[in-house]
Amino acid sequence: MNLAQRYLDIMKKCLSFTLWKEPLIPFDYLQKNNLLEAAQLNVPQGQLGQVRELGHELSKVGLELAVNFDPDDDLRQNGGYWPYYADTMIGLKRLDNIQFCMEYVLNHQIPGDFIETGVWRGGACIFMRAVLEAYGIKDRMVYVADSFKGLPPPETGGYTQDRGDILHSYGYLAVSKNDVQKRFYEYGLLDKQVAFLEGWFSETLPSAPITKLSVLRLDGDMYASTMDVLTSLYEKLSDGGFCIVDDYTLEGCRKAIEDFRASLGISSPLVPIDPYSVYWQKGVF
Ligand SMILES: C[S@@+](CC[C@H](N)C(=O)[O-])C[C@H]1O[C@@H](n2cnc3c(N)ncnc32)[C@H](O)[C@@H]1O
Repeated sequence: MNLAQRYLDIMKKCLSFTLWKEPLIPFDYLQKNNLLEAAQLNVPQGQLGQVRELGHELSKVGLELAVNFDPDDDLRQNGGYWPYYADTMIGLKRLDNIQFCMEYVLNHQIPGDFIETGVWRGGACIFMRAVLEAYGIKDRMVYVADSFKGLPPPETGGYTQDRGDILHSYGYLAVSKNDVQKRFYEYGLLDKQVAFLEGWFSETLPSAPITKLSVLRLDGDMYASTMDVLTSLYEKLSDGGFCIVDDYTLEGCRKAIEDFRASLGISSPLVPIDPYSVYWQKGVF
């Protein structure tokens, strides 16, 4: 591997935290963020009250209860869990896919910038900026689009397909712009080739200062958060560019992809990335 490849390899491992064993997770954090179920604890539901009580008693003497959650290689490769320490939740295979798509458009001179819509702690976008750095690319931008306050309640923009969705209630998914910028800064990658689009996609994307995209990465989880992005940005994606769908196994997202592709008669094949995600190449059949 040359130095650029080695840099990108180590960036993927750092951003996904796979370089290290997952340390203990504070029980209090899981509790405050309603993540006790998502954390895959082995504590039977009936005993959670006792565990809470233990945590409370320990905190009185300055100690903290922590949870041992050690994701196996499969979970880490496929981004199959909500991490506590990582900068991105997408796992190594989806990071590899970003690298593949970006290297393809750079090598084939397919014009346009890069965007992720739905960035959480920003790790996938930090990796996009790292790819530009690795190859000395100075004339392309990375756009970082998010509310920076989590997901919208269902039906905010009028779409009924998200009715009953509860993702907006997870504080864990709300990461401030300041926090994301700090993570870019810590990797030495916060500069004028990175632009932040803050707000609901339906408000920021129609007037975003983007003329052409070569990679459009969607990670907004819901029907509305997928459809709003496609209706604003898909026409700006160059022929030969890539549309990556992180949440294809989530019902709302999948339906939005099916509806949008049907409305434009898009027949480019969907290519699986891992058990959760797919991509297609615009104009390639
Ligand atoms: C699953 S997380 C994204 C994970 C991220 N791509 C990563 O690499 O870890 C979903 C993100 O989408 C954002 N989001 C979802 N719907 C949105 C909307 N309609 N407008 C703005 N942000 C939205 C949330 O704030 C959250 O940060």
